[in-house]
Formats: sequence, structure tokens, C-alpha cells
Amino acid sequence: MDTLLSVENLSVSFKTDEGVITPVQGVSFTVARGKTLGLVGESGSGKSVSTKALMRLLPGSATIAPEAKMHYLDKHDKLIEIEKLKGKGAPIRALRGGEIGMIFQEPMASFSPVYTIGNQMIEAIRLHKKLGKREARAHAIEMLDKVGISNPQARVDQYPHEMSGGMRQRAMIALALSAGPALLIADEPTTALDVTIQAQVLELMSDLQKDLGMGMIFITHDLGVIAQIADEVAVMYLGTIVERGPTRDVIHNPAHPYTVGLLEAIPSLDRLDERLKPVPGDIPSPNERPQGCPFQTRCQHVVDGLCNQTAPLETPLAAGHSVRCWLHDEKGKSAA
Ligand SMILES: Nc1ncnc2c1ncn2[C@@H]1O[C@H](COP(=O)(O)OP(=O)(O)OP(=O)(O)O)[C@@H](O)[C@H]1O
Ligand SMILES: [Mg+2]
Repeated sequence: MDTLLSVENLSVSFKTDEGVITPVQGVSFTVARGKTLGLVGESGSGKSVSTKALMRLLPGSATIAPEAKMHYLDKHDKLIEIEKLKGKGAPIRALRGGEIGMIFQEPMASFSPVYTIGNQMIEAIRLHKKLGKREARAHAIEMLDKVGISNPQARVDQYPHEMSGGMRQRAMIALALSAGPALLIADEPTTALDVTIQAQVLELMSDLQKDLGMGMIFITHDLGVIAQIADEVAVMYLGTIVERGPTRDVIHNPAHPYTVGLLEAIPSLDRLDERLKPVPGDIPSPNERPQGCPFQTRCQHVVDGLCNQTAPLETPLAAGHSVRCWLHDEKGKSAA
């Protein structure tokens, strides 16, 4: 497999008033060139922190543990060891935007309210591509057109607040793609949109991704969305990846009780009369992470003396599919 990005053993800690918390603990995943990895998990599971670490966009209160490896193969097939780059300076700036595009979860974070959409796109384009102002403007218009914004010649001179939410989201995608990144990180790009527009934007992203041969990390808390867009999926819970594998395999043969719970919580039109089954209980905060398996406080299959004592290791199941759960480990099976 042609690996574009590999993250190994990523842990992130923050200094807070309540002491040091580690909301991301030993996360590993890979993204293949031209493929989509879906990162799914409840609010607070550490999805945004993991990808912000990757882009070195964490605040000063954050520390990335020294054993982390974040390796990216750039457009010239040069291996970039992201963990060794300084958080500021030319190499990381070249990576951000130019190699790796980002769509942020915070709706307004990508655009400044005081400049037109066009000016912001032109600036981003010229930062990474050797183009004159006119050419960059033409490219910006072309990108707005590509993401389905009608009348892009006029829209390019509008300010972000003059656009509807859906249109702004499309403009954000156009901005993120304007420098031609090889990897796109999309952090919940559709959550703020109504369902019909959400479906359109998803389709658009999937088409653009195939068209441009981009790799993508798509973050969401909706496994239904993952089913539509991702080739591979990583399920995150309380800072660790509890299950990962090819999307179809994970959805058809979920192994972790948390993944099973997420799948049962998806509303379905054929089951309108059934009550939805949310995963019972709440995700603990990172400073209350239990000893042993992080999911044990909500799990119905806890093996006493094992799950509440020792964190499960990653167990391989089928090709590329693995789980961190004692139920799938020989030791757990014999104890259960
Ligand atoms: N700057 C920070 N300082 C301290 N704690 C933080 C900081 N940023 C995030 N956290 C904590 O890290 C944990 C993971 O946060 P993160 O934003 O990655 O969650 P998420 O999975 O993206 O959730 P959501 O689906 O709500 O976006 C949370 O408990 C959060 O409170
Ligand atoms: Mg987030």
C-alpha cells in the first residue's frame, strides 16, 4: 500500500488548572495515497487534538510525547518527519496548506471576516504556488466553481458573512483545496449544515477527492457518514483508537462493544418505530480515565480482574482490521 501519512504512538498532554491531562494516548493510524480514513468517536474522544498535533497547531500548553512518529511522504516523495519540525517556520508552513489542506470544525476559523473570500483564497494560492495575482484570482474562481458555487465571478468578491452557511462551507473546501494539497484533513465539515446540504457537500468532497487523487482524513461522530465516504475507519474512544480497519469490514463485523453501540445508535428509516439505542452513559473526561480499558465504565461485557486492571493491546482480526478489547484476546476469552 502506498502510505501517504503514518502516525505512530501519538500522545498529547495539556497542562491545565486541574493538573496534566492526556486526552490522546498512543494513537496510531495510516492514510494511503488517494484514500479516505474516517476518524469517528464521541465528543471529547480526541479527534481534533490528534489532527491538530499533526499540523503542529496545538497551543503552548500542549506537549507531544517524544516517542510519537508522524511521517508524511511529500509530493516529491521526500519523507517529512513532522514530529521533528519546529511548530513555526518555513518547513511547517509549506506543509500546512500546500501539502496538507485543512477544513476546520469551527465554522469561521478558516476565514477572516474582514477580507473577501477571493482575497483570502488568492493569498493562500500565492503562498504555495508561483502564480501572479490575475492567475491566482482565475484559479480561485475555478475552485469556487468546482465546489458548486454558482456565479463564482461575482461570489469571489463577497465577504464570508454574505454567504449562507452551506455556501461558506463550500468556499472553505475551495480554500483548503486551492493550493492542491495531497492530503486533506476535514474536521466535521458538514455538522453545521442541514441534511440535504450535508449530503451534497459529502458527495462533493468524495468526488473532488477522487478527481484530485487526494488522501483524506474525515472526522465525524457519525458512523453513517463514515459508511458513505471512508475507505478505512478508526474508532476513537477517550483518546485511543479502539478499533480500526476497512470500513465495510468494521461496519459488517464490528468487534469492539463501543463500535457495536455506535452502529446501533444510527437512526434508520426502516426502523422508525424502534427506539434509538444510544450508547448508555457518558464518556469520562480525560482526567478521570479509568485504569485498564477506557471503555469499561460503559461496557456490558466487563471481565472483572482483566478489563478493569489492564488496558487491552491491539489484537489483529482480519486483513487490516484490529481491535483493542479483551473479548477478542486469548487471555480475555479464557477468562470470560
Ligand atoms: N487546549 C486544550 N487544553 C486542555 N484540554 C483540551 C484542549 N483542547 C482539547 N482539550 C481536551 O481534550 C479532549 C479531546 O478534545 P478534542 O477537541 O480532540 O475532542 P473531539 O474528539 O474533537 O470532540 P468533538 O467531537 O466535540 O469535536 C477533550 O476532553 C478536551 O476538553
Ligand atoms: Mg473536534
